[in-house]
Amino acid sequence: MDKFIIKGGRRLEGEVTISGAKNAVVAIIPAVILSDEPCILENVPDISDVSISLCILYEMGARVVYLNRTTVEIDPRGIKGPVVPYELARHMRASYYFLGTLLGKFGRARVAMPGGCYLGDRPIDQHIKAFTALGADCAIDHGMIDITAERLIGAQIYFDKITVGATINAMMAAVKATGLTVIENAAKEPHIVDLANFLNSMGADIMGAGTDVIKIRGVKRLKGASYAIIPDQIEAGTYMVAAAATKGNVLVKNVIPKHLESITAKLAKIGVNVEEFDDSVRISVDGPLVKTSVKTMPHPGFPTDMQPQISTLLCLAEGTSIVTDEIFNNRFRYVDELRRMGANISVDGKVAVIEGVGGLMGAPVTATDLRAGAALIIAGLAASGVTEIDEIHHIERGYENIEQKLQALGACIEKKSIPGSTIPKNAAV
Ligand code: EPZ
Repeated sequence: MDKFIIKGGRRLEGEVTISGAKNAVVAIIPAVILSDEPCILENVPDISDVSISLCILYEMGARVVYLNRTTVEIDPRGIKGPVVPYELARHMRASYYFLGTLLGKFGRARVAMPGGCYLGDRPIDQHIKAFTALGADCAIDHGMIDITAERLIGAQIYFDKITVGATINAMMAAVKATGLTVIENAAKEPHIVDLANFLNSMGADIMGAGTDVIKIRGVKRLKGASYAIIPDQIEAGTYMVAAAATKGNVLVKNVIPKHLESITAKLAKIGVNVEEFDDSVRISVDGPLVKTSVKTMPHPGFPTDMQPQISTLLCLAEGTSIVTDEIFNNRFRYVDELRRMGANISVDGKVAVIEGVGGLMGAPVTATDLRAGAALIIAGLAASGVTEIDEIHHIERGYENIEQKLQALGACIEKKSIPGSTIPKNAAV
């Protein structure tokens, strides 16, 4: 079992370069299936969700070749069938993106019901609504989602709820449908735009990505393309918060400042200095951190994927802060772990009330999901003493080389492989 061991209390200083966006690449890799020729993807992050996605393509018959550390060539022509290997798919929520791409390519898709982070209720009714609108029949069959369509016909799709995943799946299923598809109440995240730009580079006809109405005119075939994944806005935000929590001075490089606007604005309200450049931001703190309120919203609002991280920072701010997660109904499971470190937080449903404390103390804690794990790293960096974080596989799903990047910023963090403890963590003692 791997753990991160962090000796806290050191200011982060220096430069960190942001990798390709996890939530863009986990959609773009499956989208390659829609192409009739090889594609080359650049700025691909070395994270386990990418490894699983590429393994799925390889197991299905694609040729996958890394041209260098961050560039991969994928030839999907060897993929002959619409079934995704169950064991690989069940561990990664983003595997449901294979539904839209396989349906768009073959008129059929069989994929395991999605796994991934437990953040509360995560239904896929809007995905099914989109596929059904395009003319597909959907069924659940022994843990698999089975979707078939004689023909995919362009349709009007109105999402009852703004959903990133269903917007992505609808786009991929519609790019080769006959006629016009209009998606209304669409998600506007940067990774939606990145996928649309990739699909258009293959010859798709998508307009309006990044707005709440996306129009897609079906095309007969998609050609190969070379495409560079956008930088990860959440990885960038995580390092921005880590720099602030340690009162450090860090230049976060390879970012798109516009994607960070809501994070930058919130950090400024807390008393953090954020200096913007063309493709980087500098974080510094020269005064007290102060309380604020945070409400997560679909883009361009404050991202839910930054909620655990900003909540951790607010533990160190003066006063009482309120954090509301409007997207997921159970995304505060990390609070129990922060309490082990001295945090004073009360949670009621989707609202957390955070009383600023002078500082946090190192402790043994457990990462409950990807962003919760990132928040615990931030807490450990800011805390006095040693923090041990286990279940770090969650963190490695979405953060490339996080310990090396933090070490380069002066953090005292190392990964240890430790035999499983004999006493279960929550054992009553
Ligand atoms: C994507 O998840 C991201 N995952 C999540 O990032 C991110 O938190 C989320 O979008 C919101 O931005 C990937 O891109 C792989 P949603 P997704 O569909 O698509 C409800 C991370 O940390 N909903 O936008 O599953 C749903 O329950 C991960 O990187 C329905 O009701 O999120 C939620 O309350 C965590 N019916 C809300 O919509 C549906 O059919 C938003 O979900 C679909 C969703």
